[in-house]
This record gives sequence, C-alpha cells and structure tokens, in this order.
Amino acid sequence: MARPPLKLRSRGTQTEHSAPLVVGRSAELATLGAALTDADESRGRTLFVVGESGIGKSHLVSAIAEQAAQRGFTVAVGRAYPVETGIPYAVFSDALLPVLRDVEPSLLTLLTRGGTAELAQLFPALPIEVKASTAARGDPAEVKSRLLWNFSQFLSRFAARRPLLVILENLQWADSASLEMLHFVARQIAADRVMLIGTHNDPDHRGSAALRAAEQSLRNVASAQRIRLGPLSVESVVELFARMFDADAADTSAFAERLHRWTGGNPFFIDEAIKSLVESGQLREVGGKWVGWDVDELRVPSTIREAVLARLAELSARARRLADIAAVLGSRATHEELAITSGMGHDELIEAIDELRGADVLTERAEAGDIVYDFSHPLLQETLYAELGLARTRTLHGEIAQALEELYGPRAMAHAGELAFHYARGDARRLASKAVQYLRAAGKDASAKHANREAADYLSAALAIAEEEGGDPSAELATDLARVRQRLGDYPAALALWRRALDVATNSGDASRIASIARSIGLAEYWSGSFVDALAHYDAALDAATRAGDGQLEARVRIAKASCLQAIGRTAESRVEIERALAIASALGDDGLLARVHRALVLLYVWSGPAEKAREHGRRAIALAEASGQRSAAWSAHWALAMLGGLTGESDDVRRHLADANRIADELRSPLYRVWTAEVEIEYFAGIGEWDQGVALAERTIEMARALGQRTLLPRLLVWAGLLYLGRGDLERGKACVNEAWELSAASDPTSARDVFSVVPAHIGRAAFHLAMGQYADSIRVGEHGLRIADRSGHVVWAIHRLMPIIAEASLWANDLDRARSIGERMRRQSEALGQRLGLAWADACDALIELFNGHTERAVSLLRGAAEALEAIPFVADAARVRRQLARALAETGDRDGATRELRRAHEVFVHLGAERELDATREQLRELGARPPTRSTAQGIAGLTGREVEIVRLVAARRSNKEIGAALGISARTASTHLSNIFAKLGVESRGELADRAREAGLLEPSS
Ligand SMILES: Nc1ncnc2c1ncn2[C@@H]1O[C@H](COP(=O)(O)OP(=O)(O)OP(=O)(O)O)[C@@H](O)[C@H]1O
Ligand SMILES: [Mg+2]
Repeated sequence: MARPPLKLRSRGTQTEHSAPLVVGRSAELATLGAALTDADESRGRTLFVVGESGIGKSHLVSAIAEQAAQRGFTVAVGRAYPVETGIPYAVFSDALLPVLRDVEPSLLTLLTRGGTAELAQLFPALPIEVKASTAARGDPAEVKSRLLWNFSQFLSRFAARRPLLVILENLQWADSASLEMLHFVARQIAADRVMLIGTHNDPDHRGSAALRAAEQSLRNVASAQRIRLGPLSVESVVELFARMFDADAADTSAFAERLHRWTGGNPFFIDEAIKSLVESGQLREVGGKWVGWDVDELRVPSTIREAVLARLAELSARARRLADIAAVLGSRATHEELAITSGMGHDELIEAIDELRGADVLTERAEAGDIVYDFSHPLLQETLYAELGLARTRTLHGEIAQALEELYGPRAMAHAGELAFHYARGDARRLASKAVQYLRAAGKDASAKHANREAADYLSAALAIAEEEGGDPSAELATDLARVRQRLGDYPAALALWRRALDVATNSGDASRIASIARSIGLAEYWSGSFVDALAHYDAALDAATRAGDGQLEARVRIAKASCLQAIGRTAESRVEIERALAIASALGDDGLLARVHRALVLLYVWSGPAEKAREHGRRAIALAEASGQRSAAWSAHWALAMLGGLTGESDDVRRHLADANRIADELRSPLYRVWTAEVEIEYFAGIGEWDQGVALAERTIEMARALGQRTLLPRLLVWAGLLYLGRGDLERGKACVNEAWELSAASDPTSARDVFSVVPAHIGRAAFHLAMGQYADSIRVGEHGLRIADRSGHVVWAIHRLMPIIAEASLWANDLDRARSIGERMRRQSEALGQRLGLAWADACDALIELFNGHTERAVSLLRGAAEALEAIPFVADAARVRRQLARALAETGDRDGATRELRRAHEVFVHLGAERELDATREQLRELGARPPTRSTAQGIAGLTGREVEIVRLVAARRSNKEIGAALGISARTASTHLSNIFAKLGVESRGELADRAREAGLLEPSS
C-alpha cells in the first residue's frame, strides 16, 4: 500500500521543527499565547485543555509547545497511559526525565539544594547521588508534604534560569500521585516562570475522581483556567482542505459540509475518514490536482471506530500482529521490547514497523539513546485493543508479562508496576502468584514514595487475587495494606485489616506481633474518635508487650495510651502512663525514646499545667532529641514551648522557640512544620499588635494548608484569621473565615467523630463573630457549647485562651453579671493553676467591669488600669486598648475628664496602628462625647507609630542594652537590630539613644514593664 501523500504536506506528524497546521482555533491559541507571555514574565499559569477524544487537544498543545520552544522555553511533555495509572508520579517522570537527564549532575545538585533525597525518591532514574541517611523519614503526612514542596521548589529554581512549559497529556489516565503533585505545584508557581498545561478527554468528569478533585479545586481558587475544545466548524473544514490539498473551496465545500455532518466536526474522525478515502483511491491526485470530491460517490465510515478499522484493514497480517501487541503493551515501547514481545526476527520487525509508520499508526522518537515507538493517536490503540476481545488480550497480557520479565532480568522489581499490570490481566489461574508478587512489590514501592492511593490499589489487588486463588494471603500483606489505608484516613478499612492480622498473630502466639498490631488498632481507633475502644486495644498491646519482654514497644504503647487518656480528660491517669514510659526509657538508656517521653510530658503539661513543668520537660526533650539526632522531635518540643509561651503570655519564650522551630523546619525543608509554627506566629502577631503581618502570614499559611490538605489545622488558621478580620471591622471576611472553619470542622454535626483541636476553635470563631455583631445571647450559647466540649476533653487551655474571655464579655454587654462573675472566677482559678498570665489579666478585666457595672466606679478605675497594664505587659495590645476605653468611661464618671481623654487618645493610637476600624469609631465617638476633638485617623505619628517590634527595641535601648544584646534578646541579628533602630530614629526624629530613652519615658512606654 502506497504511503498516503498527506504527510508530504504541511500537516504530517509533528517533527520537532514543523509547526502543525491548526485551523479554527484562533481564540484558543490567543488564550494560550497570552498565558505563555504571563509565564515568561514570572506569572506562572496552569491551564487545562479538555474535550472529547480526537477533538484536537494534543494538536493545539503541540502548536503552543512549538511557540514556547521558539520563545526560549524548556518544553517538557509527559503522557499518561492506562498501563501507568498505578505508577506513582509516572506522568511527571515522563515529562521531566528527558529534560533532567540533560542537566549536568552538579547543576542538578545545586538546583535541588538540600532536597536531593526527595527528588531521587520521586525520580529513581535520575543520575543523582543520595546518602541513605538523608532519605525522608518521619510522620507520613509531613514526609509527603516535603516531597511535594521540594519538587515545586526545584521547578521554580529550574525555571529561574530558563522559562519552563510542562505539558501533561491524557490526565484521565494519570496516577493520583501525579495529580496531587499537579494540584500542589499549580498553587506554588504564581511568581515563577512556569506554565503547566494538562489535557484530558473527560470534561464532565465521569471517570477519574482524583482528576475531578484536582481540577475543580484548582479552578475554584482561580489557580487554573480551562479551555474546552468543541467541534470544528464547516468553514474550518473547508479551510483544512484548502491547506492540505490546495483545493478550491468551490470544489470541496459540498463534501466538507457532508463530512462535517458525518463526523460531528471531530478532526480526528475527519482525518481518518480522509486517510481511508485516499487509501481506497476514492480521493486521488490527477495531474497535480486532487479529484474525487463528488459527494454522492463517496463512501465514508459512520463512526470513528469504523474509520479506524477501515484503515487498519489495509495492513499486512504481520503489521497487524505487531500493532495488536503494541496495543496490549499499552504505552510507548522500545525496539527491544517490541522485538521480545512479538518474537519477530530483526528484518521482519523492521518491515512491520515501517509499514505501521507509513500508515501513520505508529510514530517513533529518540529518547535517552533508545528509539521508542508510540501510537500516533490513543484512539488507534483503544480501537485495536477492543477489537482483540477478552480471550486474546488475556493471552497476550500473559505472554507480554513473561517476555518483559525475562527482558528485565534482575531489574524486574524496578518494573514491578508494569509487570503487575500485565500479570494481573493475564491468564489468572496460571499467573496468579506472579501477579501477587509484583503487585506487592509495586505496592511497597508506591508506599515508600508516599503515593498512598496507588499503594492501596496495588496491595488490595494483590490481596484480592491471593484470596481468590484460595491461598492464605500472608498477614504481612494485610498489615501493609492496613498501614496505607490508615495513612489515607480510611480507618474502618484499616481496622478490618488490622483485626485480620491480629487473628493470624494470635493463632501463632507471637506476642511481639500481637503487641504491635494491637497498638496500630488502638491508633486507628484513636484517630477515628473511638477513645474507649482505643484504650482497650492499648491495654491488650501492653499485655502482649510485657509477655514479649519488649520494653521499647511497651513504652511506645504507654505514650500512645497517655495521649488518648488526655483526649478524654483523664489527665491524672495519662500522667501515670507517661511516668511509666519514662521509667522504662531511663532503664533502657535510650535517648531517642526518652526524647519522645519528655515530649509527651511537655504536651501533657501544656494543656493541663503547671507551665513550669512543661518548660522543664521541654528543655529535656530538646536536649535529648538533639543528642539522638531526632530533628523532628526537637522541632515539636520547640513548637510546644512556643505555643505554651503564647498561651501563658511569655512573649520572649514564644519568640525564641519560634525561631528555633523555624530554623529546624528550614533545615528539614519541611513546609508542614512551617505551617504549624506559623499558627503560633499568627497568634503572636495578633497579641503584639502587628495585625498587618498577622493577616499577611495567615493568608499565606491558609493557602499552604489548603494545598497540603491539612484538615485539623486549616479550620484553626481560618479562625485566627477570622478574629483578625473581625477586629479590623471587616465583618464580611471575618464571617466567611469562621463559617468555613465551622463547616470544615463539622462542628455542627454531633454524629461525626469530631476533632476537639479544630471543633473548639470553630466555636471560638463563631462566638467571636456573634459578639462582634452584638448578638450576645448567640455568642454566649455558642461559647458555652464550645466550653462544654473543651471541658469534656480536658482542653482547658483553649477555654482560657479565647472562649471564656468571649463569654465573659458577651455576658457583660448583655447585662448578665452573674454569668460574667462566675466565668471570671473560673478563669482566675484555672489560670492560677496553669500559670497563665493572660487568663489572669482577663479575669482582672472582667472583675473590673463588673465593679463598673455595679457602680463602684473608684474601685473599677484602679482595677481597669491594672488589667490594661497587665495586658500591655504580655503584650496583648488590642485587648489592653479596649480595656483603656472602659477605663476612660470610668474616669469620666468620676469627673476626671482629662484622665479619660488621655486614655482614649492612647487607645486611639493603638487602634489606628492595628487598623481596628470599629474600635476606632467607638473611641472617636467617646472622645466627642467628652467634648474632645479626635486625633487624625491616619497612621499614627510619633511613638504610637512604632510597630510592636520597634517598641520592644526602644524598651531595650532604654535599658541600656547594646545592639548585640538587643539582637540576642529578640532572636535577630545585631545588624537587623541596628536597621530597626535607624528606622525608629527616623520615625521619631531623634538622634541619640539617650534622646530616644527620654522620649519613650515621657510617652509612658516604659511603664508597663517596669
Ligand atoms: N485545529 C486543527 N486543525 C487541523 N487539524 C487538527 C486540528 N485539531 C486536530 N487536528 C487533527 O486531528 C487529529 C486528532 O487531534 P488530537 O490528537 O489533537 O486529538 P486529542 O483531542 O488530543 O484526542 P485524544 O483525547 O484522543 O488524545 C490530529 O492528529 C490532527 O491531525
Ligand atoms: Mg491527545
């Protein structure tokens, strides 16, 4: 059969340098071109090009790839194949490996900058060296986030040198790990020279749920745009003929119209129909002119399938057999792979390949020194596969599996995913044990890459086949799968599997194994909120661990049991468990274990007091963790101590431990640790009155928490952001934040297993919102409900930190003094027990207001002043200023108009700096009532214009500290301290440290802390 002349024209297959002929897509090309310009100018873009099979997505995208290459972009194209749906990060590997292989190893190391281990884990084929010890370890969620983060950092650095276009084709078949990665990366590239294009043929998302989730979530937050391709118009078809055949519209328009109707304007269909018309000679070239356009005589296939089959029917038997094998192989194949799976001799194979290339069934390209073949279009592969029928595909899969296994030889396990795919589809009975073997290996590999979905799919397929075959699947298989299900948060499934494994272990009487499985069951129950069941399993685990004489394990179970006891408020028992773990760890002299025990003790005392004990254990945990090289344990101890500092109003502690925690997070290159410390940092900014910084950090962190799917943390971050918005009088945004937090934490659903760590904050947000709206009864109701939840679980600290102050305030404004008094008393009692300065200051404020409401004005004045100063000393500046407004009221009542005005001016300056609009309005109103003229609303001048950090520095200057000492005290460099100081000098127009100290003293800046 002669090669159709079509390829001689401008269309043809797209070799690297010929721009494909594209008709009827000018709007789409313009959109893509504009996105390319954006990316070139460091405004990273992500687009999805979607539409039915054959509609022209790949064609359009290859045109834009051509443009990108001409504009100096690196272009990386990856394709997904059905065979690879289970192989983690397959599409990204496919796209990036060819590009990365060309990069100098030394440059690659530079670009990965410390994240080499993560990159090597994602792309084992990359030529980079990794020291085994640097490989990612730790909490699965954290390790996963580190993989994603380091990869996106790498892309960003790579693109800094030369802009990058990554095209991911056929995402309907993409593995879910790649989709998660796409989802993450797309949100990180906003300021990078990166453009991502994903294509898929499932615009209505009937297939892959993972694809739907990724695309919709990106489009919801406007991180991605979608281009949906529709059919070509009749005019475009006419244009196509004109450009392909040099034919006059007058000759072809009737045919174009008819073909358009038959094919529904699908260009692939049009293409195939034309090819078959040419091959059958109905369309032919006569004397340099194409003839045969006479519509009535043309027999055109009526479906895509028919069109494809008509063309395939012309192939020789040998070529057809090779095409069938390639279709079952299912992805691009090397020459060697085709040879071994087809069993054809060298010449025979070359001839068959030539024929398939000539008929535009296969295409070839060079890749890493190999020639690889692929179908010119996925529809060809699909049609061939479907034509083969079940029995023949099954046989072929089996043959291919065995041939490939032989070909890979000792490297077979590195191809476990692919082999598993074919073995599992092969002749079930005969090949079952092979299938199980490779499925397990692929599952383990995916699990090591934290591709949990894929791992679960492989392992459950292995389990299913093993069971079907009547064999006794190993208990190990069940526990591997259980672990993966647990990571995915599918606790019921994990529990069922753990129980099975437990039965097996119990029958064999292996005490060590029983203990470890029972502990895992306990954890699964704990995470799904069944605390009582969890305790029962922890006890069983303890029993078995004792029998096995395994001290390590016993200590770990006791730690787990302790945190469960804590969650249900049985603090004393919790303490007993940890003390026992402590005894074991000390006896074993195991620093790593000891570090964990002390960390458990920090958390215990953080939540239940006394604070001093928490600090003491924190110090021990940090020292032990550093000594035993457990960086993440060290991080979490710093985090806990920073948190404690925030809750107890010890700002120096907060600062110091935040700095340490962030340093470790950066050393570990962990975005998740960063997100967790940011939470404490936001509260810190809120406290010291740097609301601009607090809001900015909150917004950044919320984005990252969303991208990393942080279910517990996200609602909390939303609440803290919401409180800042409410404080600023931005009620709309405040409301949106607290409502979202409410939804996410499922706070309103009493049936679902709720996580106190997010549910209580969700109540804080709601109660604060009602308070801001003046809906006091609602605020009290929601607040008390939250308080009951906090009480039940022993999380007193939340209650003191935010809930009780809100309820007390709402009660006061609602004139419910009895309630205010009893909340105030409780706040005082518990704050004293916990060592919480903040709670005490609030209790003081509450007492003071009760006095004021009862008409004991004199007493109220002195109490209010004390409370304001206590809050300023912490510092909790916003609340201090609000107390000063009340102090002004009291002073006015005693007739001290000047005193009142002074307080109001002071509060005014703070509110201006915070941007607290509603408080500011109220303060100005109060000033007017006193007959005083309110100051300007613009950013405060003088001392009041200083930021919280600057105020701290001024205080240290007044205490005669050097820049170096100031730096050390604030956890900044001496140089930064000096920069701050010059800013302060400029703001205040002072010229010496002495003058500055005087000004500060005059302004009363030194009082609260003196
Ligand atoms: N705008 C166009 N102008 C000219 N030819 C086109 C156009 N769009 C598509 N074609 C032709 O139609 C064929 C099918 O298009 P393409 O491969 O891009 O479809 P697809 O949408 O990627 O399909 P699939 O989802 O199956 O991968 C191409 O090989 C190309 O020859
Ligand atoms: Mg395509």
